[in-house]
Amino acid sequence: PSLNKVYLVNSGTEACEGALKLVRRVTGRSQLISCHNAYHGNTMGSMSVMGFEERKQVFRPLIPDVDFITFNNEEDIQKITTKTAGIILESIQGGAGFIQPKNDFLAKVKKRCSDVGALMIVDEIQPGFGRTGKLFGFENYNVVPDVVIIGKGMAGGMPVGGFIADEKYMDLLSHDPKLGHITTFGGHPVIAAACLATLEEILEKDYAAQSLAKEKLFRELLVHPLIDEVRGKGLMLAAMTRNSEITNKVIFKCQDKGLILFWLLFEGKAIRITPPLTISEDEIREGCAIIIEAMNEILIEN
Ligand SMILES: Cc1ncc(COP(=O)(O)O)c(C=O)c1O
Repeated sequence: PSLNKVYLVNSGTEACEGALKLVRRVTGRSQLISCHNAYHGNTMGSMSVMGFEERKQVFRPLIPDVDFITFNNEEDIQKITTKTAGIILESIQGGAGFIQPKNDFLAKVKKRCSDVGALMIVDEIQPGFGRTGKLFGFENYNVVPDVVIIGKGMAGGMPVGGFIADEKYMDLLSHDPKLGHITTFGGHPVIAAACLATLEEILEKDYAAQSLAKEKLFRELLVHPLIDEVRGKGLMLAAMTRNSEITNKVIFKCQDKGLILFWLLFEGKAIRITPPLTISEDEIREGCAIIIEAMNEILIEN
């Protein structure tokens, strides 16, 4: 199978819904596997594969036959069996704390899927479109998934999502049942034009390669006693502090100084640094100087 057909929908979570339906339709099986601390969106199906109980508990019952494994835990790969329709994973776990796959984890998951006839869905909604040094994050990790879901940056800020798989799989969804996954505005011509223009710009300016050079500069500048580690890849970075209290202080102080940072969904120690790919070297220097200044103030106050 190859990744030769895309369906456009309106958001990332809808792309996830389409992919979950697709793997059930293609395999005729029902079990879906996801990862602890995974985030794939907020509609019912996507929330069912969210690996964070606290945020979904009050909405139960969700869709049945969903199981969870731990990202990077090789023993857990055995939980993918001939009952599994598909497994969904982010190529770099986002909400969990910008955790990269280790020791060919993704390639090992793919091998297991091939062995048992399950399909592998990779969520590129956050890492995709040049943010991690390649057009798609999975290209960094020696694997080609069966299904890819995309969104966020793919239309330069316009609302869109998509899922990609082999034409013969996608045709099942469109013809059997007929119109098996439709939506009024999917493939809207204005949005499609924005997608094309964004893709051309990313490829022409080689923003993927630029994101690696920019990562290097961030890593040189983000050195401070309050930063334990800088996680992530390219322009998907998180500065990790000792605790969420310090992280909150840094984020609020920076906001007062005119710099917008953010948190990660499930990891309170992370200061999220995910600027537009167009950020300049001067802007990186200016932003990092504000972060360091805020951290120096926190050290003095304590
Ligand atoms: C990895 C990942 N998957 C899915 C989604 C959901 O996308 P949307 O907010 O467009 O529904 C997000 C959004 O934050 C995401 O980061």
